[in-house]
Amino acid sequence: MTIHIGAAAGEIAETVLMPGDPYRAKWAAETFLTDAKLVNEVRGMLGFTGTWQGHRVTIQGSGMGMPSLSIYANELIRDYGAKTLIRVGSCGAMQEGMAIRDVVLAMSASSIATPSSGIFREFNFAPPADFGLLTAAHRAARAKGIATHVGTIYSSDVFYDERPDLNEQMTRHGVLAVEMEAAELYNLAARHKVRALAVLTVSDHLITHEALPSDQREKSFGDMIEIALAAAFD
Ligand code: HPA
Repeated sequence: MTIHIGAAAGEIAETVLMPGDPYRAKWAAETFLTDAKLVNEVRGMLGFTGTWQGHRVTIQGSGMGMPSLSIYANELIRDYGAKTLIRVGSCGAMQEGMAIRDVVLAMSASSIATPSSGIFREFNFAPPADFGLLTAAHRAARAKGIATHVGTIYSSDVFYDERPDLNEQMTRHGVLAVEMEAAELYNLAARHKVRALAVLTVSDHLITHEALPSDQREKSFGDMIEIALAAAFD
């Protein structure tokens, strides 16, 4: 047990998928894993361990935002020995030519600040995805026929952003999408020499203001889980 995860030693797999929403973790575990067992419910941040095509997998909610994800990812890596961590979540598209439900694979994650900023101070570390996971996820997404974009994203600290001028600069510099967790996951993966990737679905578009209808969210989320699992065990 750790402060925020109630799982016993050995109950967390080396491969962990991390949706923001704990109920998504439950749905994904029940839908895609065999013999899924609830291993964490501290603070309602549900985590499950089961198997997928014979491989052990944990699906653990991260909560929203980098401070929350940082707590779970730190404990998963440092206390439970997680070696592959894949965020599965939604993002807001920042480029024309992107559509709702497209998949974004974050090659790197830009940010204004992360929970690691105190370590880096004036140094702007550019946290990258694991290349092997990235290429495997790209293959898996293309095989499903899903329009897929690979590039940098913006991990923001605010959902209700009062600085639209900043978004314009992001768009101008080719940032594909905004979300709120990947940069710190990548920082932690670099620091602890483990593999990380963010697989994202476009849920809304910051330029066209389209949004994913709620009845399509489950299907898109399922596609992401399958891409993440295929990439993890490629
Ligand atoms: N901002 C931040 N995070 C997000 C967004 C957004 O517009 N859409 C989905 N996740």
